[in-house]
Amino acid sequence: MNPHTHPDLRDCLASQQARLNRALDATPAATGRNQYHPDLSPVDWHYAHCHFIEAVWLDERLPQRPPAIGRDWHDLYLPELSPKWRRGGRLPPRERLRAWGRERQSLHREWLEAPAIREHPLMVGDYLVGFLAQHHAMHLETLEQVRWFARLNGAEPGQAPAAPRPGAPATGDRAPGHPAWIPFPRATHTVGHDGIDAFDNERDPHPTTTGPFEIAARPVSNAEHVAFIEQDGYRRPEFWGPDGRDWLQRTGARGPLGWWRGADGRWWQTRPDGARPLADAAPAMGLSWFAARAHARWAGARLPHEHEWERAARDGRLQGTGQVWEWCANAFFPYPGFRAYPYEGFSMPWFDGEHRVLRGGSEWSDPILCRPSLRNFFTPEKRHVFAGVRLVRDRMA
Ligand SMILES: [Fe+2]
Repeated sequence: MNPHTHPDLRDCLASQQARLNRALDATPAATGRNQYHPDLSPVDWHYAHCHFIEAVWLDERLPQRPPAIGRDWHDLYLPELSPKWRRGGRLPPRERLRAWGRERQSLHREWLEAPAIREHPLMVGDYLVGFLAQHHAMHLETLEQVRWFARLNGAEPGQAPAAPRPGAPATGDRAPGHPAWIPFPRATHTVGHDGIDAFDNERDPHPTTTGPFEIAARPVSNAEHVAFIEQDGYRRPEFWGPDGRDWLQRTGARGPLGWWRGADGRWWQTRPDGARPLADAAPAMGLSWFAARAHARWAGARLPHEHEWERAARDGRLQGTGQVWEWCANAFFPYPGFRAYPYEGFSMPWFDGEHRVLRGGSEWSDPILCRPSLRNFFTPEKRHVFAGVRLVRDRMA
């Protein structure tokens, strides 16, 4: 075996390809081209885009060939050339798409062994294989958001809900009191990551100083966010700031995405997998950054800086990570010495002061995305990114 190959990453790519196949097959052809939300492309587009991106790297960029896969495909599947609202109508029929995807998967696995590909600098340690696997995992999480909107559009809050999943926690599960606070003194520590799976925005590991602070042992629970709502939190301007008040007014939001009260007065939650009574102890999910910040202020706390979060996550005492993405206070920014790769558009356009960082991963994130250094980023009004919040408080030194 070539000493530079990495069987784990190859298995990982193959398993993401298999997940894409399953996601396509689980979506009826009749809805595969639906665009349910301005931010969310149709399921069939995501499927095609993932295979197209493999083809761009393995068929064009690495062998340094001119476009081998048709200009019209670039126009449809490269996000920067393809307005989201036009994507659904331009997709090929489902059967052709599925056949093309399967063909590309076996071709690309073959090409990964070809000398012209293997010798490329981006293939050292199988970096590109891992990059593609993580790329697909991120799109697969977006497909769960598409599924969520398909449900939200189908089931209006207040109507008779679907039966809860067997085994779903009962609404009476009480949240286990207040979370413990984990103290951190002022200290200099390392953040960032330089493993083969590191994205450009995680590099390079470098020292930073945080503290003193204390961080909640677990994310804010549903019961705690219900208390915020029931104490009129979404209507009390003092928690929201001008930008948050503007968002409240524009959207009329009065709770997390998918939350609603049943005819019986109980809180219910529509999730990608269906509607169920809100489980008190589960982490609140469906919050915008504005709502996360308002909840924190109401609770006499604040959002963590992403480096406080990473320090605590590496320390190993945080509970409940990887259930909801956790909004951080700060905007997405480049680390010292940032160098864009494997292409400029991966991180650079989002260092715009608007995107806020999220950490940890959600229930719908593949484990390959749930490392302590991984930085996700969205604009603060987004409620559909499976996000919640973990509180932080300042401490006296
Ligand atoms: Fe992509």
